[in-house]
Amino acid sequence: MRGSTPPTPARAQILAIDGVRGGRLVPNDDLIGPIDSSDEWIRQRTGIITRARARADQSVIDLAADASVRVLARANLAATDIDAIILATVTHFFQTPSAAAILAERIGARGAAAWDISAACAGYCYGIGHADALVRAGAARHVLVVGAEKLSDFIDPTDRTISYLLGDGAGAAIVGVGATQGIGPTVWGTDGSRAGLVGQTRGWREPGAAPPTLTQEGPSVYRWAVTAIPKLARQAVAAAGIDLADLGAFIPHQANLRIVDQFVKALKLPDHVVVARDIVETGNTSAASVPLATERLLREGTVPGGALALSVGFGAGLAYAAQVTRLPGGEQ
Ligand SMILES: CC(C)(COP(=O)(O)OP(=O)(O)OC[C@H]1O[C@@H](n2cnc3c(N)ncnc32)[C@H](O)[C@@H]1OP(=O)(O)O)[C@@H](O)C(=O)NCCC(=O)NCCS
Repeated sequence: MRGSTPPTPARAQILAIDGVRGGRLVPNDDLIGPIDSSDEWIRQRTGIITRARARADQSVIDLAADASVRVLARANLAATDIDAIILATVTHFFQTPSAAAILAERIGARGAAAWDISAACAGYCYGIGHADALVRAGAARHVLVVGAEKLSDFIDPTDRTISYLLGDGAGAAIVGVGATQGIGPTVWGTDGSRAGLVGQTRGWREPGAAPPTLTQEGPSVYRWAVTAIPKLARQAVAAAGIDLADLGAFIPHQANLRIVDQFVKALKLPDHVVVARDIVETGNTSAASVPLATERLLREGTVPGGALALSVGFGAGLAYAAQVTRLPGGEQ
């Protein structure tokens, strides 16, 4: 604009990460009846032993609020310090008003810009990409990015393509101005030609129909993921200007332990890179999966704060995104 001087670009970092899982760890045996499956089949094909499920009276916004309050405390920030809230979810029952607007009010961040994004299991990595751009452009100083899902509200217990995979939880990060740039370029995209492979069984408004649940063509998504995602991961590492050997952690979307292991093999990841395997206990929590897997690594001390992590999300759309970030807590 006339007369204005472009601001010096700020540097963006992830200042804190935290999260909450549904409080009930549901074992395979509780779910196998309606899908004619077995504990052994689920463990062998997916690695899942339990999945975290929320209480019936908890909503996706309750989970998002719990994670947000925790991450604010961890970052030593007040809700009023937050300029923007990006909530990635596919399990909010309303298309409008947004879950993010309600979350803002719930945590005491009234006045913050707030919006939802729908990029399924890639949603959190999309959100980090948005937040990074906002902070670097000077449009926000602190952005709260939340991936939150109550997938158990969208399960048909007789759908053997997906019902046993899904869990509930919320993971949250605060992206803010830092002394150095701690978020690499987000490499992202969609392949809408595969939009039919995973998603809702039907739209919200089909006369006389029951509410939608989730379903997928699992083997097709599997084949796509093990081919497309290692390429995406390599692109994100190259875009960050580092080598795979510089990574401290690899945090892919927790869709299936076999998929995670195939990624590791395809990438020929050095042994010192810690691989997130939160799916074994938590299940697949879609947009919450990457931040919750990150939260576990940091909480258990498997990876030190300040290490470089490669995060990769992929899912319905098909939407995908990857970026290298410096984990909070160490030297920034
Ligand atoms: C869903 C998934 C776990 C299924 O595993 P899979 O190894 O591909 O299994 P398949 O569907 O090929 O089925 C293999 C066999 O198990 C059977 N089977 C399928 N689902 C089953 C279940 N839930 N329980 C028991 N048996 C099952 C099939 O009928 C088939 O039997 P057959 O060999 O006698 O024909 C796997 O395909 C997957 O994880 N896909 C990707 C999911 C994903 O990334 N989604 C997007 C992001 S959320």
